[in-house]
Amino acid sequence: MFIKRGKPWSLKDHQATSEGIYFNRRKFMTGSGLLIGGAALGLAGCSEQSSSDAVVSQSASTSDFTDPTLDLYPAKRNEAYQIERAITDEGINSSYNNFYEFGSHKQIAKAAQALKTRPWQVTIDGMVEKEMVLDIDELIRSVMLEERLYRHRCVEAWSMTIPWTGFAFKDLIAKAKPLSGAKYIRMETFHDPSVASGQKQSWYPWPYVEGVTMEEASNDLAFLVTGAYGKPAAKQFGAPLRLALPWKYGFKSIKSITRFTFTDKRPVSFWEQLAAREYGFWANVNPEVDHPRWSQASERVLGTNDRIPTKIYNGYGEQVAHLYKDLDLPKTVLYR
Ligand code: MTE
Repeated sequence: MFIKRGKPWSLKDHQATSEGIYFNRRKFMTGSGLLIGGAALGLAGCSEQSSSDAVVSQSASTSDFTDPTLDLYPAKRNEAYQIERAITDEGINSSYNNFYEFGSHKQIAKAAQALKTRPWQVTIDGMVEKEMVLDIDELIRSVMLEERLYRHRCVEAWSMTIPWTGFAFKDLIAKAKPLSGAKYIRMETFHDPSVASGQKQSWYPWPYVEGVTMEEASNDLAFLVTGAYGKPAAKQFGAPLRLALPWKYGFKSIKSITRFTFTDKRPVSFWEQLAAREYGFWANVNPEVDHPRWSQASERVLGTNDRIPTKIYNGYGEQVAHLYKDLDLPKTVLYR
């Protein structure tokens, strides 16, 4: 097993082991009594994109499918969310994705086209006044869509800048009418191994789950994404509904959401179940707290030759630092 402490970008492609391979090996090694220690390789498929990868772009309108909300795009940009970086080229973003349901590597775009995004229902349940099931198109038409430019920083130390379209998470909370005891929101992705072959890999704890506190979800920055680049979201981006939490590592931004459960118990996420020491609940971007196996001090900006210093809370400290100031947690826990 390849285990290396250091910068993931110093790895050659052939040295990086994707989690799929890692967990396969781990399963094999567990079976044969060879598993030593708990050093999971986890989300470290930091290999460069192959230049020969075909760009699979938006599928908002194809011969057999027209997105029923197409008329809502492009939505007006909210100028409060401007940033200084250049927008990542759509072709690069569309062909370099983490979506383990469709494979444990970055080139999942073609496979993700198998996902049927209509009909699509979103369940709101748990500690709410009234549980409900919302049709995605009714949900999207009941809110005000806007475009925001957000930084997106993966725990693997690469980043992009994306023009997301969507609506504030707090608009969904208002619809849900949570009970006063609700402290967290647990979110879940679809589970259908017949279209998502990654979900046949039984060593992963499907479905993908993520969680946030009520305060985090109510923060202005927490954004439920329905589109990108002025169109309904491509399937590889997590259509028809994903989260964008730009101050946290990208794995918190769950894709293709089907359920929001309001609860008083802290949810255990997909990655936390696999490797809690490496992918904790909070996962706030912090250049001073390294991942156990590589540095988080800087990031590779996809689509450029730049490597730039990473900022605390990914540059969004002004908006979110207050959420964490009273938490009595060691820094390493809070930021991992
Ligand atoms: N959501 C689901 N359902 N499945 C996933 O594998 N990967 C996460 C997150 N959301 C993932 C997911 C990770 S690790 C990252 S970095 C981002 O999605 C990647 O989003 P992007 O492909 O739009 O860059």
